[in-house]
Amino acid sequence: MKLQRIGILTGGGDCPGLNAVIRSVAKPAMSHFHAKVIGIMDGYEGMVDGRARELSPIDVLGIINQGGTILGTSNKGDPFHFPMGERSNLRIVDASDQVIENYKNWKLDVLIAIGGDGTQIIAHKLSQMGLNVIGVPKTIDNDLDATDLTFGHDSARAVATEAIDRLQTTASAHHRVMIMETMGRYAGWIALGAGVAGGADIILIPEIPFSWDRIFDAVLKRSKGAKFSILCVAEGAKPMGGDVAVKELDRKRTDPVRLGGVGDLIGKRIEEETGLETRVTVLGHVQRGGSPTAFDRILATSFGAVALQAASRGEFGVMASLQEDHVVTVPLKDAVGRQRLVPPESQLVFAARAVGTCLGD
Ligand code: F6P
Repeated sequence: MKLQRIGILTGGGDCPGLNAVIRSVAKPAMSHFHAKVIGIMDGYEGMVDGRARELSPIDVLGIINQGGTILGTSNKGDPFHFPMGERSNLRIVDASDQVIENYKNWKLDVLIAIGGDGTQIIAHKLSQMGLNVIGVPKTIDNDLDATDLTFGHDSARAVATEAIDRLQTTASAHHRVMIMETMGRYAGWIALGAGVAGGADIILIPEIPFSWDRIFDAVLKRSKGAKFSILCVAEGAKPMGGDVAVKELDRKRTDPVRLGGVGDLIGKRIEEETGLETRVTVLGHVQRGGSPTAFDRILATSFGAVALQAASRGEFGVMASLQEDHVVTVPLKDAVGRQRLVPPESQLVFAARAVGTCLGD
């Protein structure tokens, strides 16, 4: 297929590596296919509002190592759940017609949608409505089932690992219990990966609900030997028979739940029950910022290249995906709506247990 006009957007929460994908689509699109690349601003929000601009080679120069996204992003721009107005005047409308109209106005041959599960669900719906769409999977959470890995995850895990290293020295100096809360939504990949890499003493993930007594016993035992404890806690971790800690409900988002607060909850209970001095660090958006790791730059570049290749073959309604070291395409319909969670019997869980880490169960 002759590619003349390629639309590209970044949707949902940002993560390191988005610019590397934009670059790996735009460079060959311009130099090899002599196509125009239309950068849509702020994700699907810009696609509804009609905000876009043509990218030039200068725009994608030297951006492989930059975090964030030169296009901007939004997690409140779902065209099928589009917020209009504020607070008491807030209305949720279906603005998908405007997306179709702008796709036609901009004379796009394809839309490349870089984003997590929410972005890919929208991509799938738009593809069912007749648009040529190709997805590229990103998220620090690594919770997309149709790919072995999403880019952004390795960078977030590296940040969280370094944070544990830093917390360990101060925990040891003050003989304290240190709790670090990571992001990850309902998946424990960041907490488990960073916890194992940083040598955390207790790792709590959503897939393995924890027992309060197991945590109290573990920190009390450590207080007699090493005299400090590091807990790496996923924001979606929950006690057995209990529920996740919710920080906020935001109706503007398709999934209104914003997780957060479990670290504080656990910290308070540990101090009450054991008397051990405890401090809590919520790592938050630090995990999403900064430069991507080499691994994420390579994965993002490969995803972008494969997405553009698929477009040139006229293969639409698919998503780039890493499958056993190869980047391939999978149908969007098989890629969306299924979460990739940590299997409780996985090798990483086994490795954590083998070195004596408490998983809270
Ligand atoms: O999905 C990425 C993520 O960073 C999650 O880990 C986290 O729960 C959420 O986004 C935070 O969203 P926001 O940027 O809206 O606070």
